[in-house]
Amino acid sequence: MDKYILGISGGSGALYSLAILKGISDSGNACYLVTSKPGRRVLSLETGINLTGKPSSDKKILQENLNINDGNLEVIDENDVGANIASGSFRTKGMAIAPCSTGTLGSIANGISRGLIERAADVCLKERRTLIVVPRETPYSLIHLENMTKLTKAGAIVLPASPGFYNVPKSIDDLVKMISSRVLEKLGIVSSTLKEWEGT
Ligand SMILES: Cc1cc2nc3c(=O)[nH]c(=O)nc-3n(C[C@H](O)[C@H](O)[C@H](O)COP(=O)(O)O)c2cc1C
Repeated sequence: MDKYILGISGGSGALYSLAILKGISDSGNACYLVTSKPGRRVLSLETGINLTGKPSSDKKILQENLNINDGNLEVIDENDVGANIASGSFRTKGMAIAPCSTGTLGSIANGISRGLIERAADVCLKERRTLIVVPRETPYSLIHLENMTKLTKAGAIVLPASPGFYNVPKSIDDLVKMISSRVLEKLGIVSSTLKEWEGT
């Protein structure tokens, strides 16, 4: 079983995070989940799932809603900068932050590791592990673009929440799958939902 970190910050697009969480756990791997307070607020608004910020109850809520096995999910307090994932010695396969707010993006790009999402991302960069950020904002300011450039230069993958329409999606679920399966693929988890383009 491999270990992956998922950060949910306060950008719009909570369905992406749930699909990635489900993809990691369904692949038989362990997901170490950290949510920011704005991340939980947006999740509640967009999905009706009300997380509390308390790891034990949030784990239960997510297990029930997404049908996740006990051993495939660990929820960690966003303020616990002494958690396992805050150290490079804890070997993970990588981290995704989806959605990644422009605030969290800016903090990571500038090395400001105040909370656990930012610290765990900083660790991934310093250890040269996979870090995927899924920003959601429109339009982008120069500050956002410069921060994305900085992160790309530091080795992160910027994977914007901008699904394509060439596979003719029939539902929101199709759009969510298009992004979430790209994230899973970049983490090294082969997703059966990723439709390969076969040319016209
Ligand atoms: C309903 C709602 C939607 C939001 N959508 C976005 C968004 O798409 N992108 C973004 O960067 N911030 C968005 N925000 C603002 C962030 O949540 C806010 O900047 C927050 O401080 C980010 O904190 P965090 O990075 O610690 O999660 C949204 C906030 C709310 C309440």
